[in-house]
Amino acid sequence: MLIAGNWKMFKGAHEARQFATTIRHLPERMAGVDVVVCPPWTSLEATIAGLGKSAVRVYAQNVHWELEGPFTGEASAPMLLELGVTGALVGHSERRQYFGETDETVRLRAESALEAGLAVIACVGETADERQAGEMQQVLERQVSVLPRHERLVIAYEPVWAIGTGLTATPDLAQEAHSFVRSLHDAPVLYGGSVKPENAAGLLAQPDVDGALVGGASLDALDFEAICQAAAQAA
Ligand code: 13P
Repeated sequence: MLIAGNWKMFKGAHEARQFATTIRHLPERMAGVDVVVCPPWTSLEATIAGLGKSAVRVYAQNVHWELEGPFTGEASAPMLLELGVTGALVGHSERRQYFGETDETVRLRAESALEAGLAVIACVGETADERQAGEMQQVLERQVSVLPRHERLVIAYEPVWAIGTGLTATPDLAQEAHSFVRSLHDAPVLYGGSVKPENAAGLLAQPDVDGALVGGASLDALDFEAICQAAAQAA
């Protein structure tokens, strides 16, 4: 089981460092659970410092495909590795919706990050309109088909209509989508979208749910711990 906290644009360096010291012992109490946090760029170093020798791993929220170059606002895999960052999210729906991320740029980001030695959590998922139009499978097929096969690649199924809305997919809906993603790719599949302590156990009990990518609830140490605990029970 993998539980990853996506902090999005929350927690500046000072707060991130304090929070890291609060959660750094989590993995010792959670057998069978890998714990990852994804702070914003400016808090990566502080989070790593706060975690010290903890087994909690730090991933970036994005990564560029070139090693360096004139790409304002981006950071490369070697720059992340230099800090002690060991992985990155790619293709989060907020990147796709607001920042023009495409399946092609997601592919480029994933491939070069893996090649450079980072782990990758690649995000896929349909919007409410796409689901209503009966296009869920088509969308997932398009987004998953570009992802490389690699032992350090994990897929996160995050239905866009469930992100930050409190509208979690039911465990059955999640299982249905996960088993479809599994039919397309052999990577582990995390569920994301309004995962909370109250619904984590039901989602993580599904046979094709290999963990969770947690937004809002990962910002609170007690909520995040409760979700990790649910994962330890399901592991
Ligand atoms: P929420 O858990 O806040 O819905 O966010 C999910 C998400 O986008 C994680 O990447």
